Amino acid sequence: MIKALNTKRPMENIRSHPLRIGILGSGKGSNAQSIIDAIGQGTLRAEVVCVLSDVEDAGILERARRQGIPARFVSAAPFKTKLEGEAEKRYIGTLAEFGANTVVLAGFMRIVKTGLLKAFPNRILNIHPALLPAFPGMASWKQALDYGAKVAGCTVHLVDDGMDTGPIIVQKAVPVLEDDTPETLHARIQVQEHIAYPEALALMAADCVSVRGRRIVIDRAKLEQGART
Ligand code: GRF
Repeated sequence: MIKALNTKRPMENIRSHPLRIGILGSGKGSNAQSIIDAIGQGTLRAEVVCVLSDVEDAGILERARRQGIPARFVSAAPFKTKLEGEAEKRYIGTLAEFGANTVVLAGFMRIVKTGLLKAFPNRILNIHPALLPAFPGMASWKQALDYGAKVAGCTVHLVDDGMDTGPIIVQKAVPVLEDDTPETLHARIQVQEHIAYPEALALMAADCVSVRGRRIVIDRAKLEQGART
């Protein structure tokens, strides 16, 4: 009897990870990789239960498969820029199938709508390549450069029903250099993205994030206690 319980324990531990992440992405998946790496290195207590993409040959799917993570193309047709209607239902159903309790948007090139927001209240995160609220929308690094900003960066935030407007969890800044091109600036921002996303998720995993209006408040004592156990 006792023996049987002991044998089961490792599996139960894996299954009882508080953060069961479903990643949604449309591109190469470097942010997904940083999250997978952080879990592998033990700095993020979580499990990536699935990677879903609206692009059949997206690099993010290939990356996940190489690492043994369930990866699936899920059509978001007929819409081009949003996730709504039957497509939204397909995504919610697939996330439920894998038991995800947290959704990570990592370069998912669609606006998510109320169905997904209601299915995962305050459990959907996004990363945006700018210091929000500056430069929401597309190609933010280029917007920052064209505007003449001296500082750029990235933001990890909870997703709400606006465009890049949800409460901010983590931000990282980088300098804009005199000789920057959109590509060099984006590359410098991405280095910080790969630090910021695992950091924000570690706060969620430690269950020390609360939302007060627009503000995210971090319970530092709980965070430190979690780090010691
Ligand atoms: C990142 O720059 C992210 O900020 C934006 O989309 C890009 C995704 O890159 N939302 P990757 O697919 O994670 O490499």
